[in-house]
Amino acid sequence: MATGAETDAVLETGLPEQWYALLPANWVKDEPVGITRLGRRLVLWRDGDGAVRVHTDRCPHRGARFSQGHVIDGLLTCTYHGMQFDGDGTVVRVPAYPGCKLEGMPGVRPWPAVEKANCIFAWMGEGEPAPLTFPVEFDDPEWSHFLCTGTWQGSYLYALENVVDPMHGTYLHAKSYTLAYGSGEDEMEIERTGDGFTVRRTQQVGRNFDWTEFHSTGADWVRLDLPYPPGAGPGGMFRILGYITPVDADACQVFFWRLRKVDGWQRDLWRFMYKSRLEERHWHVLEQDRVVIEQMEAPEAELLYQHDIGVTHLRRLLQRRARDHLKSRAAPPLAAE
Ligand code: FES
Ligand SMILES: [Fe+2]
Repeated sequence: MATGAETDAVLETGLPEQWYALLPANWVKDEPVGITRLGRRLVLWRDGDGAVRVHTDRCPHRGARFSQGHVIDGLLTCTYHGMQFDGDGTVVRVPAYPGCKLEGMPGVRPWPAVEKANCIFAWMGEGEPAPLTFPVEFDDPEWSHFLCTGTWQGSYLYALENVVDPMHGTYLHAKSYTLAYGSGEDEMEIERTGDGFTVRRTQQVGRNFDWTEFHSTGADWVRLDLPYPPGAGPGGMFRILGYITPVDADACQVFFWRLRKVDGWQRDLWRFMYKSRLEERHWHVLEQDRVVIEQMEAPEAELLYQHDIGVTHLRRLLQRRARDHLKSRAAPPLAAE
């Protein structure tokens, strides 16, 4: 069985063999964009049909960064010697040597990618992509949403643990617009669900950040509701859907969709209020999380208590997956003679 150090090493930059949110879709336009996710340098670009493509950001000729190149005639074009690749990564042209035998050969592998809710998701695995299911809100026209994203200079593990730790809402965000309400004491409980778990306060619901659902549906994501004070206009709770993607061991990209179930003029009003007034307040709350997470340093032995059951449940789940991953990579036993 894998040791704790081995599973920690797998988890350090993110579990492979699953889907991850990479970047807002409208950040990838006419030119290649270079990013780092799960410790890998990736290039994102759009082919001649406008479909987003993801490759390792390294030209297979001599290793120049594709992200320093261009998209020309719908082909990814390396800046160094001008080699061109299609969306499947096949070498299409070697302009400096017409008729070169490399033309038509596989050049760089594509990472399967899809766009959803103004975000690019990619399968970061070697094997066949797992089925990917999105939160129902993404396809439900009754939900109106905004995507906000940011890079946090802290481990994605801290950021994930932060969202399965509802009790911090009452303390860290005590003076905030949405999270200044309710009791500062409670008991937490965990409920296993079909694709993950829910962690919730037992004595309070609908007053503060009182519960989180953690789902694994090809990608890991969370759902939580926050109460809106009357000044936020008509409509129900403020919902958050979150995906957190490792950049490397020390940084992560957080993606939070902010949603409200409103239609007609109420939707227009909320969207206007969000842009003109509410967004800044929500960013302020998120900044409080970022500032804490970027400075965190795990103690030798944490003094965990009852409220940390979401954190410990998540850690066990990730450790189990890391062990499964290591097991699947282990060499098969030698066949009996
Ligand atoms: S390194 Fe890309 S074409 Fe030479
Ligand atoms: Fe928070």
